Amino acid sequence: MTINIVNHTEDPARIENFSKERFVSKQYMEQEWDSVWKTQWLLAGLQSDVENPGDYFIFDLGREQILVTQTSEKKVQGFYNVCQHRGNRLVTEERGHAVNFRCAYHAWTYDIDGNLSIVPYKERFTDGAPGKERGLKKVHTECWNGFVFVCLADQPMPFKEFLGPLDDILSPYRFDKMTLVQDQTVDLDCNWKAVIDNFSELYHVDFLHPQHKSMVDCCNDTVRLFEFGHTGVEVPGATVNPRFPVPEMPTAIQTVQLQSIGLDPADFKGRVMDVRNAVQKQKRQVGLERGMDYSGLSDDQLSDVWQYNIFPNVVLSFTPEHCWVLRPRPHPTDPSRCEFDKISLVFFADPALAKSGEAIMSAGRHDQGQSAFAPEDYNRPERDVFHYDAVISGEKSMTDTIDQDVELLGGVQRGMSSSGFDTVFLNEDEMRVQHFHNRMNRLIP
Ligand code: FES
Ligand SMILES: [Fe+2]
Repeated sequence: MTINIVNHTEDPARIENFSKERFVSKQYMEQEWDSVWKTQWLLAGLQSDVENPGDYFIFDLGREQILVTQTSEKKVQGFYNVCQHRGNRLVTEERGHAVNFRCAYHAWTYDIDGNLSIVPYKERFTDGAPGKERGLKKVHTECWNGFVFVCLADQPMPFKEFLGPLDDILSPYRFDKMTLVQDQTVDLDCNWKAVIDNFSELYHVDFLHPQHKSMVDCCNDTVRLFEFGHTGVEVPGATVNPRFPVPEMPTAIQTVQLQSIGLDPADFKGRVMDVRNAVQKQKRQVGLERGMDYSGLSDDQLSDVWQYNIFPNVVLSFTPEHCWVLRPRPHPTDPSRCEFDKISLVFFADPALAKSGEAIMSAGRHDQGQSAFAPEDYNRPERDVFHYDAVISGEKSMTDTIDQDVELLGGVQRGMSSSGFDTVFLNEDEMRVQHFHNRMNRLIP
């Protein structure tokens, strides 16, 4: 077992453990609102949802709602979703296209740049009609690699500084060229940080996700710790976990991975540990002619599954062909609840690059469908919102792996609330959990 921790910060990687209060206390939740949600850069949504002037979407964040639009000058801009007359929520649709935004209460109307454009019966404001100063309140907004980030602070840290090395590390993965294929939100009975913690360690994988031993090698992973609470883990894919007996023939998932790039699984009888390397070589060789340009990525990146957590609440789990955006959002008032989004993006092969009629398909994503050419009848999927009971009953699924996590997390929250539990007790495998909470401690001393 190799624990390979690479620390990109000046702070030493250290385990300090922390008390359960931050998961259960309302007072901590209040501090979090002021010191985390109102100060940090937050992933609000996808740039592809605001592609044209007038396109908009709503980003729901606890007690706030942010309206993200594309302005008449083709700039993506966030505003508080609040009418400046008497404070009504302005836009109620989750997503759409608007010529202007009209409040349902007294019909104050704002243009797509947030300016107040129509006020009925203006003459009745005897102290002076509302004008420019009553436009929608802006929030700082940045676009990066297909994602829209907002920050509610008056003077946020420059976005590039916040991302730091993550910009260079992640930009070769073209999330901006990926297409949304599934959009899900589940109501969870746990604190949002329990979700982040869950996606910050592989210690639980052998026990909660036994299927992973035939997909990835969770014991030769590389963990990265960054400034401002970001973390990463890079897990060898197209392989098996060598902690368990290595099978004679490629596993089911390896078989699919090999076949999808034109290799014969039978050639790997007794050589299962060579599959990863062969997948890398073959992708490099047939990538372009099957519509995938891998030139910006290393060999390891062609086979491996990476997961990067952008502080505070974004988990990106990805290969060159896929990305899951996992994002827990806080409940407005209850620390024991959150909403958890899973957005699935796929990099469809580019028919303009492809010489053959076959598209390359994923050899990296460990438990998700394969990429191919984009379907001709593609429509952006609607967001599916459900309670985690629907996952437990089997009515809804977020993939086997995430279902297993989701089914467990309510139990973690209930256990945390017990008088029989005080502090966590972490090991080195859980260094990313600690690193995240160290950042929380900086923000909420
Ligand atoms: S609150 Fe919006 S117009 Fe009155
Ligand atoms: Fe898990």
